[in-house]
Amino acid sequence: MEGAYAPYSNFYVGAALQSHDGRIFSGSNMENANYAVGLHAEQVALAAGHAAGVHRYSAIAIIARGATSDTVDVTTPCGSCRQSLFEVSQIAGVDLGMILATTKMDKIELTTLDELLPAAFGPRNLGVDVSRYR
Ligand code: THU
Ligand code: ZN
Repeated sequence: MEGAYAPYSNFYVGAALQSHDGRIFSGSNMENANYAVGLHAEQVALAAGHAAGVHRYSAIAIIARGATSDTVDVTTPCGSCRQSLFEVSQIAGVDLGMILATTKMDKIELTTLDELLPAAFGPRNLGVDVSRYR
């Protein structure tokens, strides 16, 4: 979260993605003057893991803060990030654990991707088995 580049929204997001063997790949949001070009913290964490050759994850933690204010509600991933996370959950063949926190961690919600994105569209809908990428 502290590494985020968020001069436009002033919303600083951090994501920590845990691989099946316990490694942590972290990411933060990276904005752009062309607002639509920005990267989400979850995307950056996924790219960090991918660059290290990792495709198999067990959990992700997400936290955020404003420029001068703490969040009062836990930060949940956007719909697009949920879809990206669903793809890797299908590679691993397990539901992804989610740890969602407020800035001060006075609220921590433990949930799973299946709860946040039920009945997701994925590789199986296309008849594709992605487990070979494990
Ligand atoms: N953001 C994320 O990093 N992850 C999400 O899933 C929700 C939104 C970022 C994008 C933008 O830089 C800022 O939060 C405000 O939308
Ligand atoms: Zn997102």
